[in-house]
This record gives sequence, C-alpha cells and structure tokens, in this order.
Amino acid sequence: MNNYLEFREKIREELKKIKDEEMENLIKRLQKDAYYMEKNLNKYLEYKRIMGSIKISEVIKDVNTHRDKQFYSESKMTDTSKGELMLVNKYYYLLDSYKPDLVLMTDTYAKSVNKYLEKNTYRWFQKMVEDAKKENIILYSVSGFRSYEYQKELYDNYVLKDGIKVADTYSARAGHSEHQTGYALDINTSSSLDYFEDTKEFLWLSRNAHKYGFILRYPKDKENITGFKFEPWHYRYVGIEVATYIKKHNLTFEEYYAYFVENR
Ligand code: DAL
Ligand code: ZN
Repeated sequence: MNNYLEFREKIREELKKIKDEEMENLIKRLQKDAYYMEKNLNKYLEYKRIMGSIKISEVIKDVNTHRDKQFYSESKMTDTSKGELMLVNKYYYLLDSYKPDLVLMTDTYAKSVNKYLEKNTYRWFQKMVEDAKKENIILYSVSGFRSYEYQKELYDNYVLKDGIKVADTYSARAGHSEHQTGYALDINTSSSLDYFEDTKEFLWLSRNAHKYGFILRYPKDKENITGFKFEPWHYRYVGIEVATYIKKHNLTFEEYYAYFVENR
C-alpha cells in the first residue's frame, strides 16, 4: 500500500511537471511573436485555453485588439491626445462633444454632404487628389467629418432598414465612428453597389494612398478585427510613416495601435 501511494505521488509530480513544461513552451512560443505584449500574458493564456487549437499569432492579434471581448462591450473613451493616431472603433469611443479642428473642403475635393475634414488631413488629401489627377485618376470625398448627431441619425436609419445585427456590420454607432475624428473620409462612393473595388481609382489608391499618409481602414478579410465589412472607399489619415508600416506589414490599425500607440 505504501509503495502504491508513493508511486501515485511520483506520477502526479511528473504530470504536473509535464503541464508546467507545456505551459513554459506555450509562453516561449507566445513571446516569440513580433507583437507579444507582457501585460497581456495572462489574457493570452486564458484565450488560448478557451479557443483550443488556434494559432499563436491569432491569439496575440485577437487579445491585443480586444477580441477576447464582445464588440461594444466594456468600451472606453479614446485618448484624443494621440491626434491622428487616435483609435475609434467598437471598443473606443468619442464623446458627443468631440469636434476636431476642421476646414471646409472646396467643391473640387468634396461632393455631397459632410464637406469638412481635419485640417492636416485635408492638406494631404488635396496633394493626393492633385497627383492622382496627373494620371487621369479623379478622386473626391463623398463624406468627411460627421458629427455625433449626424452619425446617430445615419445609424438609426440603417437599423430601421436592416435591423441592428446587419447595420452593425457596416455602420458605426454614434461616438464610435471614425468619421467623427475628422481624419477619415469616403472616396468617390460609399456604396457597395458601386463595385469601387473593381475601378482604376481603387487600384491607384491601393498603390499610392500610403504615400500621402492614408490607410484602407476596413480591409477585406479583417472584419473580425476591425468589426466592419470591407470598405474599399473608406480611408484614414495616420501620417506617411505609419501608413507605410501598416501597408508593408499588412496590419489593421487596431493591431498597430495596440502595439505601437496605446501605451507609448
Ligand atoms: N461605415 C463606417 C464604419 C462608419 O459608419 O463609420
Ligand atoms: Zn467611411
């Protein structure tokens, strides 16, 4: 009997060791990822346990961008002092009183309503439009800055039309729209019926927008992170250096913000 109990203890110790080793291995694999953040270690481990056979890079990406929580749950006010690098999405919001430093775009650069844009963003947008024109590419804004109230009306109408679940896939709730930052704009269209993705204008933007500091904010196949369906027309000003990095590394702004902006 004594022998048996001793043996059982030994086996238990061994099992525990294996588990510890597994855990150490897992931690090492997490730490090797380019976007590993020490402060998220416990969340990575918890998320991995819940999600099972998910890839390590996915664990890092999901936790860094808060996908271990539901969209619009536990959202917090964004840090507007980050300026053109502030993040506004389904986790970070702006107060209804927030208004950036705006300028009115002239008719050459803006058609339709919402013709205001943040000052510096407008400067770079103008440069981009002029350079594109030299290559026979005509670009213009169809929606720049949108106030909290305007976004609320827009979203509420979409909910009436399509229901909350569908509206949430393409329209931001008031306070959660990037258009309220003044750094975002829709170029040439904002309708999925226009197949903007298949135009030479979109091709030009795909190749050149980063040179003027703009990123495609809601890329294809990134809905899980950005929270929105692919929007080939929606661009966000973040500055040339950041836009170039994001494009080169095929990141979403959410990933970039988590690693390079939020706690720096
Ligand atoms: N369509 C984008 C996501 C917005 O409503 O801000
Ligand atoms: Zn937009």
